[in-house]
Parts: sequence; structure tokens; C-alpha cells
Amino acid sequence: MSSPGMVYPSVPYMEQSRHTHDIDQAFTNQAASFNASAVANASEILEAILEHSRPQRGERWYEAACGPGVISRRLAASAGSVHGVDATAAMIEIARREAAAAELDNVTFEVGDATATSLPDAGFDGAVTRFSVHHIQVPSRLFAELARVVRPGGTVAILDHLADPDADARSWAQEIERLRDPSHWASLSDARLRELGRDAGLDLTHEQRFPFELDFDDWLERGTDSQTARDLIELSLADRPEGTDCFSVSTKPAGRILRLQMWIGVWRR
Ligand SMILES: C[S@@+](CC[C@H](N)C(=O)[O-])C[C@H]1O[C@@H](n2cnc3c(N)ncnc32)[C@H](O)[C@@H]1O
Repeated sequence: MSSPGMVYPSVPYMEQSRHTHDIDQAFTNQAASFNASAVANASEILEAILEHSRPQRGERWYEAACGPGVISRRLAASAGSVHGVDATAAMIEIARREAAAAELDNVTFEVGDATATSLPDAGFDGAVTRFSVHHIQVPSRLFAELARVVRPGGTVAILDHLADPDADARSWAQEIERLRDPSHWASLSDARLRELGRDAGLDLTHEQRFPFELDFDDWLERGTDSQTARDLIELSLADRPEGTDCFSVSTKPAGRILRLQMWIGVWRR
């Protein structure tokens, strides 16, 4: 269990793991396509984040695992400053380029491990992270780090897609996710996300769960070009267990649709 006062030794966890390679490979390949993707720019997801974590003028905000900085750039419109950290250099390159193109001079980015940064204690008024928890092997490290860098009374907002509480359903979805993108580690249930926030010493002030639909074949294409992986995914899809609510694929006239369940938690530090 972690506490907000606990500072992890600055061990670069990511350097110790084969998972680092998977993250770097996946997101170097996906950097440009993710930046332009429907899911990265979907207004309902961005609004869910910004509604409860809109910075006040002059505030300092932090985005963990910021990818191409889609959220950082939105936060920058009202924050005093925004700093983003991401493990993948190709993502940070795009984040810097996009911020420069938008003439944002209050946003900075650096390559780093969001579970063990060298950012100062209580240095930010708010922190946000989206679609990162499911890539992180020990998510309590991410929660502890977010709690550490935000000042008492500040905001922490975390959005990710959920896993089903049913173990079979969860494993089935995870198999497909990992075949498509080996850097996917594990999606969590909303109960587990609430527990992680509580263990990090955070008080939940708002939560929201909502379905989100995306083009399944576009999602697949962004993740893998391996025909073997695609064949195995088709086999898995045909063998869906009961109780899968958080990951479902249906065929509509426009093509195959992937339906995920998004969840956002907003905490006060
Ligand atoms: C699906 S992308 C989401 C990017 C961004 N959060 C967004 O929603 O626009 C996941 C990102 O998490 C980053 N990532 C994964 N593990 C990380 C870690 N331990 N520290 C920093 N970044 C990490 C990857 O490099 C990738 O850019």
C-alpha cells in the first residue's frame, strides 16, 4: 500500500522490463496514427476530462503518459502552465511539434517514466492521465506518483477503459488486447480504480462511466500488422464468454464496431 507522503526511490522501473520494449515499439509505430485517431480526439472523452478538471487561470498542471499531448494542449488554454511526461520519444516529438504549431508557449514535455519521475513533491495544482493505466504493470506506482506531485487540495483525474469484474470475460478481452498490442498490460475494473485512488490517499469527488464506440478494424490496424495476430483475434472473437460488457464487437452496416466502457475518476489530493 502506498501513501501520498511516500516517495518512491527514483528507480527507472521501465528500464528493467521487457515491457519497456513493447511500449516503445507500439507507441513509436502508433504515435502519428494515435494523434490523429478518433478515440484520441473524441469530444465526449475530452469533455468528460475537462468538465471536472478544468484548470483555473495561472494553475500548474501535469499530464502523465501524455502521448502526443492532446489533453495537455487542451489544458493549456486555461492553465498557467502544463507539463507532460511520456515514455515514448516519438510521442514527445509530436507533442512538442503540435504545441509549437498551435503557438502554445506554456506547455513543456519530457521523455520519462510516469511511475518514477523526478518532478517535485506537490509541484502541481492538478494532474491528469488518460489511457495509460492499462499499460502500466504496477498501477499503484502511477497513482502514488500522481498523488505525490499534486499539492494538498489539488485535483487528480484518471480516465481509462474498464475491464469486466468477471474473470473469464476480463481474460478474454485481455487476450484480444494483447494480441493486437503487446504493450497492453491489464485494464482494471472501476472498483479497483477506486481502491487504487483511496490507497494513494486521494478522495474521490466525481466518477462517471459511459460507453464509447469505435471502428474495430481501424483500431486493429493501428495496433498490429501481424496476420497471425489478426487470425488469433478472429478465433477469440468467435469464442466470447458470458459476462462481457466492457469489450464487445458487433457488426453493423458501416462495419465492425468495438464498444468499450470508459470510466473517469476525479479525486481531491
Ligand atoms: C494509448 S497512449 C495514450 C496517450 C495519452 N495519454 C492520450 O490519451 O492522449 C498510451 C501512452 O502511455 C505511454 N506510457 C506507457 N507506460 C508509460 C510509463 N510508465 N511512463 C510514461 N508513459 C507511459 C505510452 O508511451 C503512450 O504514449
